[in-house]
Amino acid sequence: MIVARTRAGLAEALAALHPPGHRLALVPTMGGIHQGHLSLIDLAHERAPAVAASIFVNPLQFGPGEDLASYPRDPPRDLAVLEERGVDLVFLPAVEEMYTEGEPAVTVDPGPLEERLCGMFRPGHFRGVLTVVAKLFGLIRPDIAVFGRKDLQQLVMIERMVRDIELGIEIIACDTVREPDGLAVSSRNALLSSDEREAAPALARALDEAAARFREGERRANVLLGTVHDALAENKLLRLQYAEVVDPRSLNRVDPVPEGAAVALAAFCGSVRLIDNLVLEAA
Ligand code: PAJ
Repeated sequence: MIVARTRAGLAEALAALHPPGHRLALVPTMGGIHQGHLSLIDLAHERAPAVAASIFVNPLQFGPGEDLASYPRDPPRDLAVLEERGVDLVFLPAVEEMYTEGEPAVTVDPGPLEERLCGMFRPGHFRGVLTVVAKLFGLIRPDIAVFGRKDLQQLVMIERMVRDIELGIEIIACDTVREPDGLAVSSRNALLSSDEREAAPALARALDEAAARFREGERRANVLLGTVHDALAENKLLRLQYAEVVDPRSLNRVDPVPEGAAVALAAFCGSVRLIDNLVLEAA
């Protein structure tokens, strides 16, 4: 596995790995590599003969008071895990290597999708995500890029960016990987205390309860969301930030709720912000 920490090193590695006609898949990450990331890597291997990953904790997507400083970082461990999974190239730039001229003057405007779900609570977050993803696409020029459905709004916005400004990269979506107790795997789970870790799977259970009501025939959005709120009401360690039922492509609220809609939520577990979502299926 080649590890490139500079743009020059990356260009050299890409010349060897990505000759014309040889497809390259990219899996962008912020590190803290876990089973969710690894399932993206596996999907990338199915789609392309060469797989690159990036590890970059992107300051541009963290707001003031968010967890940039405490975000889990362990590059040696991440590299070992990625190498074992057969990744060909890892791009691991320092902040100054990525943002050579400091904060970029031109950034990607997420448009109205930013006014939905997490965007309401994290101003500037998706501008930072789209800008760094566009930079990674420009630096690595993959044919394919793989993203997780766990970050539904991020996935939708990246798909829109690629279509709307014609980036010509195929975006592949990967299902959410969960712990045995249902908790969506996340780098941030490492920041949970043991009490919080015990409380956190209630989020996935709340989504499951809403899905069960949907299978029983309930189609009113407020009733399905009431199920989520009720399931979390007694939980002292979890504070719901939002729960919504949305169309998984437009992210618009839907009511009555059709099959294929997604229940999406964000909650604080102590000081750790967790997100999750589930697509509703009829019985
Ligand atoms: P990060 O949180 O490291 O996630 C990297 C990729 O892994 C994203 O596509 C995310 O959706 C996916 N992922 C995370 N948890 C997952 C799970 N449990 N199951 C399946 N996929 C999962 O998302 C980011 O980094 C950043 O915003 C990034 C796109 C790298 C831009 O900085």
